[in-house]
Amino acid sequence: MSRAFTDHRGCADGPYAGHGRRGAGGAHGKAILLGEHAVVYGTPALVIPVPQLTVTANATRCPCSGEGGDRISFATTGPQTASVTPLMSDSMQHLVAEFRKRTDVVEPMCVDVLIDCLIPQARGLGSSAACARAAVLALADVFDRRLDAGTVFELVQASETVVHGRASGIDALATGATSPLFFRSGTARALPIAMAGDGPGEPGGFSGLFVVADSGVDGSTKEAVELLRRTFERDAQAKAAFVRRVSNLTYAALHDLEQGRLSDFGARLTENHGLLRDVGISTDRIDALVEAALAAGGFGAKISGGGLGGCMVALAGDLRQAEAVVRGLEQAGAVQTWVVPVGRFAGHAD
Ligand code: MEV
Repeated sequence: MSRAFTDHRGCADGPYAGHGRRGAGGAHGKAILLGEHAVVYGTPALVIPVPQLTVTANATRCPCSGEGGDRISFATTGPQTASVTPLMSDSMQHLVAEFRKRTDVVEPMCVDVLIDCLIPQARGLGSSAACARAAVLALADVFDRRLDAGTVFELVQASETVVHGRASGIDALATGATSPLFFRSGTARALPIAMAGDGPGEPGGFSGLFVVADSGVDGSTKEAVELLRRTFERDAQAKAAFVRRVSNLTYAALHDLEQGRLSDFGARLTENHGLLRDVGISTDRIDALVEAALAAGGFGAKISGGGLGGCMVALAGDLRQAEAVVRGLEQAGAVQTWVVPVGRFAGHAD
C-alpha cells in the first residue's frame, strides 16, 4: 500500500473539513533524576513526570479519495512554532507503519494529526517521546483500536529508536507515567516515596520539590548517546566504572527516597552530575546553573536528560527554598524553570 506524507493541507482544511471522525491523545514531559546514559547499558534510573509540560494530539479522519493510498499529515503547534508547522519526521512515518502492523488496520489511512506541544524541544524533557505517545493514542482513538500499555510503549519506542538511535525506553514510559518511576531494562514501577507521617518512626517523609531549568541551548540525545558509545568502545574500563558508579548512586538514592533522606538524595544528584560532566555530557552553561542552584540552597543539582545542552534539575526542601533556587537559576541565565512537587508537596502542583 502506498503511503503519502506530503499533503500537509489535509482533510481538516479540505472538502471534508468539519466532517471527519476525531480522536485525541495526550502525554507530558519528563525529567530524569538519576541514571541517564548509564540506563542505556541496563542500569536503573529514576525519573519524574513533568505534568505542566503537556502534549495533546488531535487526529481527524476523513474519507480517502482518489487512488486509495494512505494520506497522513502531521503538524505541530506550540511555543516553539509561531504557527502550525508541518512535521515530516522519519520517526512519525515509522510510527504510522508500526501502528498499522500492530493494529491490523487494513483500510487506507487518511488522517490529519495536529500535535500541540508545550514541551521545549531538544532539551532532554522527552518532547519526541511525548509527541509520539500523544500521536499513537490519537490514532488509536480515531481508528477505534484499544491498545494495551505494552503496545503503546512499543510503538513509542519504535519512533524513539529512529530519533535517538539507541533508546533505553525511559522516555517512552515516563511521558505517560502518573508518578515518579524506578526504571530498568524496559520496565518501570512507581517510586516508593515515603510521605510525611507514613509509618511508625518515619521522621517526616520525602518532602522535596524538584526545580527543572532550561539552559536555553539545544542538546542532542542522539549525539550524546553516540559520543559515549564511541568513548566506551575505546575504553572498556571507563565504561565499566561509569556504569558501576551511576548504578550504585541510583540504588543509594532509591533508599534515600524510601527513607525520606532529602539531603543525602540531593548529594547523590550532585555526584551524578560530576560523573556525567567527567564523561563530557555537560556544558559550561549547565555547570554554572548547577553551581547557582547549590549556592541558592538547593540540596543537590545535576544535568538532566541527554545533555550537551538542554536542562538541569535541582532539589529543594520546601516551597521557600524552591523559590530561592528558581531566583538563583534565573540570575545565572536559565531561560525557563518549572517546579515539580514530589511527596508531601505533590498536592501543591501548578
Ligand atoms: C534520554 O532522556 C535519556 C538517555 O539515557 C537516553 C535513553 O535512555 O534512551 C540519554
